[in-house]
Amino acid sequence: MNTASRLKVLAGKKLVDLDPAELAAALAASDHVLVDVGTGDARTAYRQAVAHPEWTVIGVDPAWQRMAETAVRAARKPAKGGAPNLVLVNAAIETVPTALSGVADEVTVLMPWGKLLRGVVLGEDDVLSGLRAVAKDGAPLELSIGTSIWREPVPLEIRDLPELTPEAVESTGLADRLAAFGWQVTDVRLVPHTELETISSSWARRLGSGATETVFRLRAVAVDPREPVRPDQAAPEADGHAAAEPERGA
Ligand SMILES: C[S@@+](CC[C@H](N)C(=O)[O-])C[C@H]1O[C@@H](n2cnc3c(N)ncnc32)[C@H](O)[C@@H]1O
Repeated sequence: MNTASRLKVLAGKKLVDLDPAELAAALAASDHVLVDVGTGDARTAYRQAVAHPEWTVIGVDPAWQRMAETAVRAARKPAKGGAPNLVLVNAAIETVPTALSGVADEVTVLMPWGKLLRGVVLGEDDVLSGLRAVAKDGAPLELSIGTSIWREPVPLEIRDLPELTPEAVESTGLADRLAAFGWQVTDVRLVPHTELETISSSWARRLGSGATETVFRLRAVAVDPREPVRPDQAAPEADGHAAAEPERGA
């Protein structure tokens, strides 16, 4: 993984350099740091920042223009909807700035697309290591992918991307790849999108009211990276199998 030394953040509509020491001071004063990778229009990150003023919420996305509208809202006074605890960073996770190393108490990847989607589905080194780089040891990761992207008409850019199912996490070796980069899978299942509190309002709006979407949801925890287990070394009834069990209750 390559890291960038400069920290580019949105200040209203503008992209500016943030002094890493300034960020470090803000993080030290926070109860909890949530890093939302592939934050898109950053509405979910904004909602979290407003709901938890004692947290710092960091949205990361290379498409910084998409975050601008939310950044303008966040820059207002708190009484007028501002969120001074929201930091929107212009970066791709595979080249995440060093200032974000080991800051996250919690990492979310919601409805990823593009390189981020490919990286998590195929278990690519640069994306998995970038996600691990921002996390503190023990931090949970939540990954959600709407399964309708794999239903006809499948968008051209993902036609070659195999559908990620709970079973595929084990059978394709993705769980081992995650573990090799320091993510131990704790739970993987399909859930109706209505059960996911973290799903962004913009995503829900795109689905339309009354729409149902089945979401692939994977949870993992940041641990020490380990050597991947080769298929011929894996025990047939390995513990990780439990991760693919279907959901019972909410
Ligand atoms: C469908 S949007 C989802 C946005 C938001 N999480 C939501 O749920 O509304 C996917 C986002 O992933 C971002 N993305 C793609 N590749 C990325 C990468 N390598 N690192 C970080 N974000 C990436 C895209 O720019 C896009 O904004």
